[in-house]
This record gives sequence, C-alpha cells and structure tokens, in this order.
Amino acid sequence: MSPLASTDLRDHAEALIRGRRATRAFRPDPVPEDTMRAVFRLAGAAPSNSNAQPWRVEVVSGAVRDRLARALRVAHAERRTTIDLPYSEGMYAPAHQARRAAFGAQLYGALGIAPDDHEARAAYNARSLSFYGAPHAAFLFVTGDGGARLAADVGAYLQTLLLSMTAYGVASCPQGLLSFYADTVREELGLNEGQLLAGVSFGYADGSAPVNQVTTGRAPLEEVTTFHG
Ligand SMILES: Cc1cc2nc3c(=O)[nH]c(=O)nc-3n(C[C@H](O)[C@H](O)[C@H](O)COP(=O)(O)O)c2cc1C
Repeated sequence: MSPLASTDLRDHAEALIRGRRATRAFRPDPVPEDTMRAVFRLAGAAPSNSNAQPWRVEVVSGAVRDRLARALRVAHAERRTTIDLPYSEGMYAPAHQARRAAFGAQLYGALGIAPDDHEARAAYNARSLSFYGAPHAAFLFVTGDGGARLAADVGAYLQTLLLSMTAYGVASCPQGLLSFYADTVREELGLNEGQLLAGVSFGYADGSAPVNQVTTGRAPLEEVTTFHG
C-alpha cells in the first residue's frame, strides 16, 4: 500500500487542515529562525500551473516589522490606500454576503462590538494593521502580469503556507486588509515589482484571548460540490 493511502496520513491531514484557524491575538515571542526557514521551505512545495511558482514572499520581523506597522497605521490615518488586485464589495454573490455577515456577527460578538457599531469595527480594523500583535508578517506578491490565474497559484501557496505553519505549531492570520496598502509595503521594503495579494501575520497564539475562541463553520458539502456520473 502506498504510504499516501495510510490511515495515519488521513488522520494527520484531518487534524492539520481542521486544526488551522485564523488567529487574531498573538504572544510577542518570536518564531526561531530555523523553524521559520523550515516553514517557508515546506510552503514552497505548493503546486502551481506548469510549476511556474509565480510568488514572491517578503517576511518582516523585529525592527522592520515595527517600522512597517507604524507606516501602515500612518497610511491608514491619511487614507492612502493602493490596491494592486481589484476588490469591491460588489464582487460577492448573495450567498457569499450571507456567509460574510454570519462570520462578522461571530467575530465582532467575540470582541464585544455591537453589530451597528461601525466606529468600533473601523477602529478594530485599524489596529489589525499592527498584525494583531504578531511578531512576524509575510507578504505574498503575485509576479508576472499578476493576472487571475497567477493569483490563483499564489492562493495555493497561501494555503500551503498556512498549513505548514500549523504543522510547526505556528499560528497565523491571512489578512487581505494588508493588501490595501500595497505602495506602503513596497516603499518600506524597497520593492518595485509584484502585486500584493495578502499579508499573513504569524507567531504563537495568545490562548487567553476570547477572539481566538471563534470557530467558523462551512457550507454543507452539497451546497458547494456536485458529483456527476
Ligand atoms: C485571502 C484571505 C484574506 C483574509 N483577510 C482577512 C483580514 O483582512 N482580516 C482578518 O481578520 N481575517 C482575514 N481572513 C481570515 C478569514 O476571515 C478566515 O479565514 C475565515 O473567516 C475562516 O475562518 P478560519 O480561518 O478560522 O477557518 C482572510 C482569509 C483569507 C483566505
């Protein structure tokens, strides 16, 4: 029997995939450098169309991380947003909107923020630009023409990275919000190419934070998958 078919691997995969969750409060202690390198080396095993690997990853820690967090907060206060890959609320179908609303109610409920308290929500989002207190953040850029198919490859890299982190006991939060400040990220890191898809804050989870107790559900299998034949 192929090792890939073993019950062990299936159990590990269930634990790994279901064990990952978005973490929104971190302890300040950094991830050791050798762990960090192992995590990103494993993430590089992600699949991509024709194995083009159209991603570029920038990881910030220490003083660079602190400086970038400050720059992001200033950019936010000055309303200096730049988005490389198109985004609009209108891109979501009604079914997506319903799932987003249910998630928002759960998240802001855990934070003690009332559904109609838009000011408190905005303040929370602004604070999230400091990477939810995580000691590290990774920025995922799409290279080449940055088109939808290449961005999909970087999406595959993103999930592989999140699972790799989970396997090494590292907590994470993918943050699309960070991609709204693409020019600020490029300026602070001295970059001049790539389209910013998302940032990923990572480190060790603060187990005592109520926001980290949020558990999300998923649409039932039949709602999103059809088996033909
Ligand atoms: C591409 C992408 C962008 C995301 N952007 C944000 C974000 O800006 N802020 C945030 O707190 N969570 C963000 N998330 C996390 C999602 O809210 C989270 O993955 C989803 O609610 C499912 O919850 P789970 O990851 O705990 O399973 C993002 C996730 C993905 C995949």
